[in-house]
Amino acid sequence: MAKKVIKRSWAEPFKIKVVEPIKMTTREHREKQIEIAGYNTFLLKSEDVYIDLLTDSGTNAMSDRQWAGMMVGDEAYAGSRNFYHLWDNVKKYYGMPYFVPTHQGRAAEHIISKILIKEGDFVPGNMYFTTTRLHQELAGATFVDVIIDEAHDPKSKHPFKGNIDLEKLKALIEKVGAKKIPYVSIAGPVNMAGGQPFSMQNLRDVYDLCSKHKIKLWFDATRATENAYFIKEREAGYEEKSIPEILKEICSYFEGIWVSAKKDLMVNIGGILATKNKKVFEKAQNMVVVYEGLHTYGGLAGRDMEAMAIGLEEMVEFDNIRARIGQVEYCGKELDKYGVPYVLPIGGHAIFLDAKRILSHLPQDAFPAQTLASEIYVDSGVRGMERGIVSAGRDPETGEHRYPKLELVRLTFPRRVYTQAHIDVAVESIATVYQNRKNITGLKMIYEPEYLRFFQGRFEKL
Ligand code: F0G
Repeated sequence: MAKKVIKRSWAEPFKIKVVEPIKMTTREHREKQIEIAGYNTFLLKSEDVYIDLLTDSGTNAMSDRQWAGMMVGDEAYAGSRNFYHLWDNVKKYYGMPYFVPTHQGRAAEHIISKILIKEGDFVPGNMYFTTTRLHQELAGATFVDVIIDEAHDPKSKHPFKGNIDLEKLKALIEKVGAKKIPYVSIAGPVNMAGGQPFSMQNLRDVYDLCSKHKIKLWFDATRATENAYFIKEREAGYEEKSIPEILKEICSYFEGIWVSAKKDLMVNIGGILATKNKKVFEKAQNMVVVYEGLHTYGGLAGRDMEAMAIGLEEMVEFDNIRARIGQVEYCGKELDKYGVPYVLPIGGHAIFLDAKRILSHLPQDAFPAQTLASEIYVDSGVRGMERGIVSAGRDPETGEHRYPKLELVRLTFPRRVYTQAHIDVAVESIATVYQNRKNITGLKMIYEPEYLRFFQGRFEKL
């Protein structure tokens, strides 16, 4: 007779071999530090942070295999064997024959934007990402958001909020003409929408529409394995497919990809630019020597490329991705117990607290998400980041603030770093701030840098 299984939870498919001590500080200390940091969590010293949920970028724990790989770094200026190992894996997992390494994702964005965009072009995309849009704008393009409306609604439970609205895309093609659209910029999952995936069906439809107009698709594959996981979980016909199979199919619709390796690949630094187009590759190879380093190291050490090559093998393991996303889901379900509002459905890399609803008494000009992130830090030393009006920046034409519908605080989970107990503490702190929200006053901006102001902007309490 078959045994009755009560429940079988997922658990991390690894155990901990090395630990890094962290320490709790006093509330008084944190009040002082956040003031010194201009109420910007990016400007805090990491030693003053207890649980660091600022980003999952470069903050991952590498495996013993990756660390061992670091020791076989071939630091030759040209033709390092680690470069060739990495290139083989880029071909194997992304299905792209041509590849140049870069020091991180935005370096690849810089190079590809300069190669593909002409002054006066339009680049449609499924919501903006900060560095991606900036490089497209610096290269002379206007970015046009063609994501479905549901993506801008934190309450919508649409399973694929990263989808492109075909009508919006068609309207843009009609308005400006296909010749002015060098490519469609697609990310998955969409970071600024709350880590929301696109569906394979939507991607196929976009591909068909664009093929008719001879417009290419380019993919920000920074967290592509998470998108593949959601397709497997949510889209009919993909239940039995493996993550590498789904990833390969996704990439098959694109002419090329850029990747911040600091996420999916579970390393601390690195970027990838890869394509099927030999001419674009040759230009990229040439540009990388101007901005990054020789085309066989692109601003990285040989050991970094080895860690990336091994990271590529580990990132597609189903149990790894399930545990990663499982941790984010766990955090969301714990927050539900206290009624704290966040973006639905729960995303791949982070929980996005809905600061607009939490601090509904503050106007967007008083920077509710910036305020909430600093209040949570003061309460417990948990560090998140603003993803709202500050991140959205100013309209380059009018110079006015952009007022995004989403005003969020992102709590991002580094891969393989924190335990469920850390999440419990973070949730308790957020719930405490939530329960005392009515007493919170907003901020005013006192220093604003020209580019990507969320990194270095400074604020004062109103
Ligand atoms: N694309 C996406 C979707 C990203 O999330 C990032 C970085 C980049 C490109 C740029 O890559 O940092 O290696 O230069 N996101 C980080 C974050 C900074 O915290 O979300 P990078």
